[in-house]
Amino acid sequence: MTRLIHTDGVVGLRAWAADDAEWYATAARDPLIQQFTTESSTVAPEQVRDAIGALPGQPTAVGFLICDARTGARLGNLALDHEDGIGDVSYWLAADARGRGAATRAVTLLVGWAFDVLGLTELRLWCHADNIGSRRVAEHAGFVRDPARDRDREIKGANWPTVAYRLPAPEEPSNRAQISSTSAP
Ligand SMILES: CC(C)(COP(=O)(O)OP(=O)(O)OC[C@H]1O[C@@H](n2cnc3c(N)ncnc32)[C@H](O)[C@@H]1OP(=O)(O)O)[C@@H](O)C(=O)NCCC(=O)NCCS
Repeated sequence: MTRLIHTDGVVGLRAWAADDAEWYATAARDPLIQQFTTESSTVAPEQVRDAIGALPGQPTAVGFLICDARTGARLGNLALDHEDGIGDVSYWLAADARGRGAATRAVTLLVGWAFDVLGLTELRLWCHADNIGSRRVAEHAGFVRDPARDRDREIKGANWPTVAYRLPAPEEPSNRAQISSTSAP
């Protein structure tokens, strides 16, 4: 099995390979992914292959395939774009991988790595206000609401009301206190 870069023993994160492209293009057509992410419904495997090939040359963009740590089965997509110490996290799971905590596990792995290895100072994410599953994943991974960055976004020809979350690096004692005392939105 391809080497896992990060794992908690249940899910793993590994680098994308060219032969994942077909799976990605098929999985991304799923209705929930179309409803709640910026993924195009017409993305072709060739485009995915090009994007995978370009990833290693991008110093501020990281992309992982989320997989089953035991079997290596492909589960989903996890991405981190970072600049000036601030990282933006995004994710989706293929339809058959949902409902068993895999997204929460994967985001939690990424959070630890982004702070400990990349040395980022804050992670952020946003989601459609109606995306309860994603909001729960964010909260389970330690993110707190950041209403100052809520905004409407023009996505795929529609207006999306989006809600923002943030997670400051834990080495700031004041932020750590804020995380533990903030309840879900
Ligand atoms: C959002 C998504 C990644 C969640 O993946 P998942 O592995 O099923 O999530 P988890 O199993 O870790 O569940 C996390 C929580 O969300 C809840 N949840 C998941 N999907 C839900 C849904 N559709 N409606 C309501 N709650 C949902 C779970 O019950 C769980 O809550 P709990 O532990 O407090 O009971 C997955 O549904 C998905 O890929 N959706 C489409 C793409 C997407 O929305 N990406 C995020 C864009 S911001």
